[in-house]
Formats: sequence, C-alpha cells, structure tokens
Amino acid sequence: MNRTIVVTGAAAGLGEGIARRLAHDGFEIAVTDRDAEGAERVAESIRLTGRRASAYLLDVTDPSNVNKVINRVAAEQPSLYGLVNNAGIGTAIGFLDLSLGDWERIFAVNSTGTFLVSQAVLRHLAEKREGTVVNISSIAGKEGYPNWVHYGSTKHAIIGMTRGLAREFGSLGIRVNAVCPGAIKTAIWSAEAQGTDNPDQLFQDLASRTALQRNQSVEEIANATAFLVGDNASSISGVSLSVDSGLLFS
Ligand SMILES: NC(=O)c1ccc[n+]([C@@H]2O[C@H](COP(=O)([O-])OP(=O)(O)OC[C@H]3O[C@@H](n4cnc5c(N)ncnc54)[C@H](O)[C@@H]3O)[C@@H](O)[C@H]2O)c1
Repeated sequence: MNRTIVVTGAAAGLGEGIARRLAHDGFEIAVTDRDAEGAERVAESIRLTGRRASAYLLDVTDPSNVNKVINRVAAEQPSLYGLVNNAGIGTAIGFLDLSLGDWERIFAVNSTGTFLVSQAVLRHLAEKREGTVVNISSIAGKEGYPNWVHYGSTKHAIIGMTRGLAREFGSLGIRVNAVCPGAIKTAIWSAEAQGTDNPDQLFQDLASRTALQRNQSVEEIANATAFLVGDNASSISGVSLSVDSGLLFS
C-alpha cells in the first residue's frame, strides 16, 4: 500500500496519536500543524519506526497557506488518498461573556478550517475518484454543554459538513465520516482551557456519566479514526461515530 493521508493539528494530542496509528497501518503521513517544530518532531519519530512521514507547516485558518501546502503534498505524493481534519481549539467561556472575536476565532479554526482543508484535498481526490475524509467533531457536536456553546456550535457544523460531503462525493467513491470523542487528557483539559482551577473534577464528572465509567485514551480515538479511514470501513459513509465510553448512546 502506498497511500498518503494528511492529518491536521498532528503535532500534539489526538492528531499526533492518529498520525502514529495511521503510519503503523501502512499509510504515508503528511504531518501538518501550525506548530512546525512539533510537526517535524512527530514526523521524525514516525520515520524512526521505519514508517513514512513528512512534516508541513499548515495553519488551517489561512486559505493561501492551505492551498499551497495541499498542492505541494499532492505534487510530492501522488498517492494522496485521504484527510483527517483534526486541528481544533476550545476554551470554556460563559455565553454572556463570549465576544464576537471569541466566536469568530473558534469558528475560523474548527469549522472554516475544516472547510478549507477539505476543499483543497477533495479537489485532488475528486480527480482520482477515490479517497476518504474523517472529521474530528466531539460529543459537543451532538449534545449541549454549558460554557461550551461556541465550541459545540463549531462541532455541530462539522457533523453537518460531514453529512453533506458524504452525499456530494459519494458517487465518486469518496467516503466522509466523523469521529466524536468524549474526553481525553490533552491540552484542551488544562486548567487554563477549562477556565477552572480543578479541571480534573469536570473530567471525572464526565467519566462518571459514561456506561464504562471512564474517559478515553488517545489510542482509542486513533483506533476509531483509523478504522473509518481504512478499507474495513469500505461501506461506511456519513456517520458521526461517538467514541465516548458509552456517554451519549448515539
Ligand atoms: N481532548 C478531548 O477531550 C477532545 C474531545 C472531543 C474532541 N476533541 C477534538 O480533537 C481535536 C484535537 O484536540 P486535542 O485534544 O488533541 O487538542 P491539542 O490542543 O492537544 O492539539 C491540537 C493541535 O491542533 C493544532 N492547531 C491548533 N490550531 C491550529 C491551526 N489554526 N492550524 C493548524 N493546527 C492547529 C495545535 O498546534 C495542536 O497541535 C480537536 O478538534 C478537538 O476539538 C478533543
């Protein structure tokens, strides 16, 4: 197999885990992030395992950077086959304290970023009439959480995009799905991002509401993403798969 997958926000957290897992499965990885050094560190560590990966500086909010980088990946790697839209940001803010700037900033990364990178990659996949896209949404894309209205709105938008794209590109043999993680200890669960001195309390509260009575690991999100990217999911398109230890049941 010689197929390349672009992973956004792959310098840390879930994106890094997804890049590592897809590389392990035999895909060549375009490790992209706005953090160029982090992306290079992840690509280098994948290469040290004998797998193939290259790093690219890609800020999903910058249309000219997105188009330039994706065209470069497609030129350097004609085996371009897929995309995981993982780059995302989130900070807890009460709705009445949200500024228009806060709202626009999170939409720029989470939703518009997913649109821009998807469009750039799908132009290439549509020509080849093959490929797959997996969007990282959230349980907040299916349910409401106080202080996360702005974040949840971006994640609902991602599920809407997933469904529309699955219909628009399905006749070309291109599958589009989403993964909706629950809670995984990454930077998004820092005290700063959660706006509380005790982010562990919130983290544990969420775990206690799941069927399995625990939150998830980076590897569990990467496993579900790799399943949807891979050929074992050849007849699955348009789904938004919750990977949440049985929190939502949907
Ligand atoms: N961790 C969780 O509990 C959780 C739960 C549900 C969904 N998610 C989603 O998973 C995805 C990854 O989150 P994470 O927890 O790994 O966060 P993280 O902060 O650990 O990693 C996010 C990565 O995205 C990159 N990034 C941010 N803005 C970018 C931009 N404009 N362009 C390119 N890269 C950018 C960062 O540099 C970083 O490497 C996000 O979309 C997040 O909303 C996370």
